Amino acid sequence: MSSPVQETNRNRFDRIAAEWDDSPTRRNLAAGVAAAITAAVPLASTWKALEYGCGTGLVGAQLAPHLGHLLACDLSPGMLSILADKAHASGLDNLATRQLDLTCEPPPAERYDLIFSSMTLHHIPDVPALLATFHGMLRDGGWLALADLDAEDGSFHSSEAEGVAHHGFERIELSQWLEKIGFREIQTCTAHTIEKNATEDRPRSYPVFLLTARR
Ligand SMILES: C[S@@+](CC[C@H](N)C(=O)[O-])C[C@H]1O[C@@H](n2cnc3c(N)ncnc32)[C@H](O)[C@@H]1O
Repeated sequence: MSSPVQETNRNRFDRIAAEWDDSPTRRNLAAGVAAAITAAVPLASTWKALEYGCGTGLVGAQLAPHLGHLLACDLSPGMLSILADKAHASGLDNLATRQLDLTCEPPPAERYDLIFSSMTLHHIPDVPALLATFHGMLRDGGWLALADLDAEDGSFHSSEAEGVAHHGFERIELSQWLEKIGFREIQTCTAHTIEKNATEDRPRSYPVFLLTARR
């Protein structure tokens, strides 16, 4: 059964799905994250990958051409429907979508070569539990690639934005969680920096990390 925070997220992202791709900030961020993943992970056309919190596929649609198959998962049917339409229109036939919330549903039985996720972890209350689930879904040697905000002061999201469980993450703390679970070869870099106006209308910089690790 989904929790109130997941209900909130599903409703919010369903509501804003149609306009999601209109934002140059989001498109630039996705391009930065896709480029950082491509540089850090040896993507292969034989790989089965899963994206968690894919949204409208701004990142996944850029990586799918370098993969064998991509299962793009999200809890919002509205976001997934935009992605399914885009994938169909652009002939991306190795990409499938699935509604999935790993905070309250069992993982697929399949084992993956790569699991990646961008800007979704900060919506998940119990991140260590999700990371342990990812570990169980990867084949031995499989890759994890996570992008999200570095720890920030809470000004990134507007006061109306609901369903935010974390104001970014400390890279060290995230790395320690992964190490404890059994991940190895943990590395981080800055994938992109978002420039946007915070509460007092002053432009602010919000770095976004990419963390990669292997099972
Ligand atoms: C900030 S958006 C990022 C979307 C996409 N990754 C991108 O970069 O454009 C966060 C996404 O995570 C999804 N999400 C939030 N909580 C989730 C959960 N528990 N399970 C799966 N997806 C979730 C939302 O529906 C939304 O599509």
